[in-house]
Amino acid sequence: METNAPKRRDNKKSLRVKVISLGNAEVGKSCIIKRYCEKRFVPKYLATIGIDYGVTKVQVRDREIKVNIFDMAGHPFFYEVRNEFYKDSQGVLLVYDVGLRESFDALDSWLGEMKQEMGSQANMDSIVFVVCANKVDLTKRRVVDEGEGRLWAESRGFHYFETSAQSGEGINEMFQAFFSSITDMCENGGKRPVSEVSVGFTKEQADTIRRIRNSKDSWDMLGVKPGATREEVNKAYRKLAVLLHPDKCVAPGSEDAFKAVVNARTSLLKNIK
Ligand code: GTP
Ligand code: MG
Repeated sequence: METNAPKRRDNKKSLRVKVISLGNAEVGKSCIIKRYCEKRFVPKYLATIGIDYGVTKVQVRDREIKVNIFDMAGHPFFYEVRNEFYKDSQGVLLVYDVGLRESFDALDSWLGEMKQEMGSQANMDSIVFVVCANKVDLTKRRVVDEGEGRLWAESRGFHYFETSAQSGEGINEMFQAFFSSITDMCENGGKRPVSEVSVGFTKEQADTIRRIRNSKDSWDMLGVKPGATREEVNKAYRKLAVLLHPDKCVAPGSEDAFKAVVNARTSLLKNIK
């Protein structure tokens, strides 16, 4: 990777940070980094073998930031190589392909793998996460929409950007926000600034909306077993209604999720004696 930043101005103010990229194989992690550092796109897939390392310098306000980028391989085969590199990161790029639902669903297990290596949630709280919904140029094959991706990211206090390494869309904005947040965090004594994590809704609300969107039938939507009693259906309904009622929940998609839950309950109760 080549450097693309202005010359050092003030030695005292320079900062050294470590960032890593995570996500399933072939989602575009290396291409996103290449697009930013080298301003080019390679259409041929060249799988990262274990880890790629690069350095770039950027200017954030009056500080020069030296960024060490560890670009991880997404293939499960490289777990033993990857797990050495999680520690001491200040920033994580979490990437998925908007045309592959499994790459979006896998974000939770990527966080899980990282948390296991970091040892505790407290260590995860002093890291800036940016979610990249990548390959947005391939509009026809898109299966994960913006609302769903943004909800997953923002409910966890993570940034969300729609990106295309191919066209360059969103790449510079994403990296600018990423490095600026990491600088804020370092200046804030290593804690993610609070404003970033208060989005007005809880992770439970966001996760419930996502689960409802992905449910396969009305039983599944209410979280009860097929053949459940009226009482069980009503109990599950009440719990969801409290969580998602539009007067109480401002998470994107809560209104649709609430309506879907009302409809699911109505249709189930019709058929239960
Ligand atoms: P691993 O190193 O195996 O973990 O994969 P990776 O996530 O680094 O994927 P990589 O960047 O190598 O890209 C995988 C394939 O997707 C390549 O063929 C890229 O050309 C293609 N690709 C990456 N980003 C984009 C994008 O934004 N749009 C399109 N159309 N293709 C992309
Ligand atoms: Mg790669």
